[in-house]
Amino acid sequence: MTRQPLRLAILEAERILGTAGVASPRVDAELIAAHVLGVERTRLPMVPLVDPPVVDAIGQLVAQRAKRVPLQHLTGWAAMGRISVGVGPGVFVPRPETELLLAWGLTLLTGVRDPVVVDLCTGTGVLALAMAGERPDAVVHAVELDSVALAWARQNAELRAQGGDTPIRLYAGDATDPAVLSDLDGAVDLVLCNPPYVPEGTEVPPEVAEHDPAMAVFSGPDGLDVIRPVIAAAARLLRPGGGLAIEHDDTQGYRVTELLAARRVLTDVRDHTDLAGRSRFSTALRTAAA
Ligand SMILES: C[S@@+](CC[C@H](N)C(=O)[O-])C[C@H]1O[C@@H](n2cnc3c(N)ncnc32)[C@H](O)[C@@H]1O
Repeated sequence: MTRQPLRLAILEAERILGTAGVASPRVDAELIAAHVLGVERTRLPMVPLVDPPVVDAIGQLVAQRAKRVPLQHLTGWAAMGRISVGVGPGVFVPRPETELLLAWGLTLLTGVRDPVVVDLCTGTGVLALAMAGERPDAVVHAVELDSVALAWARQNAELRAQGGDTPIRLYAGDATDPAVLSDLDGAVDLVLCNPPYVPEGTEVPPEVAEHDPAMAVFSGPDGLDVIRPVIAAAARLLRPGGGLAIEHDDTQGYRVTELLAARRVLTDVRDHTDLAGRSRFSTALRTAAA
C-alpha cells in the first residue's frame, strides 16, 4: 500500500470542486480532508502522507460536494461562535454571517443579569444554543414552525444540555402568530431572529435550492412576510431597553429599518454591515416609555 501526499489529494479535490462551481473549492477541499482525517483544518500541514483508503474517502465526499451537497451535510455539523450543532437533510444550514447577530446580542446583554432571550425561527437551534453556551444565566426561548427542523433543534439542545449548558426552552410555534410567546410580553431582554427572507422566485445556488427547506429561505414576494410580524412580536415581547436583531439580505436593509422605525415603541434603529460592507442585519431597542 503506497502512501500518497495529502497535498496532491487536496489539489485534485480543489480542481474537481472548482470545475463543479463550488464557491470556495480550496477551503471545502481542506475541510473535507480534515473531516476524513479527524483533525482540525489548521493541522493538515502536519499530515504529509496518507493511505489510499483516506484518498478514496476524500474522493467520495468530494464527488458528493461536486454535486452541490452542502459541505455541512457531509461533515454533519455547522459552527456558530464557540459551539457547533448537528445539521443534515430537512434543516437550514447555519451560516457564518449569523455570528454577527449573536455578537450584537451578546454585547447588548453585557451587564444584564439573568437575561431572557427569544430566538424566533430557530432552525437547528443554533443561535439559541450559542447564546445559552455563552450566557449560562440566560433563560433562552426558541420557536420553530417546521417539525423536521424542530427535531434537529431538540437533538442539538439535548446534546448541549448533556454537555453542561443551561437547557433552552423549545417551542413548536409560528413566529408570525400575533400571540407567539405572549406569556413573556414586556419581559424579554433580547429577541434574535434569522428568518426566511429571500423573495419568492429568486434564483439561489443548488446547495440552497435542493437542500435548504424552502420555508427556511423564501418569504413572500418581497422576502418580508415573516420579518413584518416578527417586528410586531418583538415590540410586544421586549422590556424597555431590550433589543431586537433581525438578519436580512443585502438589499433589504433600508426596508427593514423602515419597518422598525415605523413602530412607535422601537428606537435607536440601525442597519449593520458585514466585513465586506454588505448590509446584513438590522437592530432596534424598545423605548423606555410604552
Ligand atoms: C433562515 S432559517 C434560520 C435558522 C437558524 N436561526 C439559523 O440561523 O441557522 C429560518 C428558520 O425559520 C423557520 N420558519 C419559517 N417560517 C417560520 C414561522 N412562521 N415561524 C417559526 N419558524 C419559521 C424555518 O423552518 C427555518 O428553520
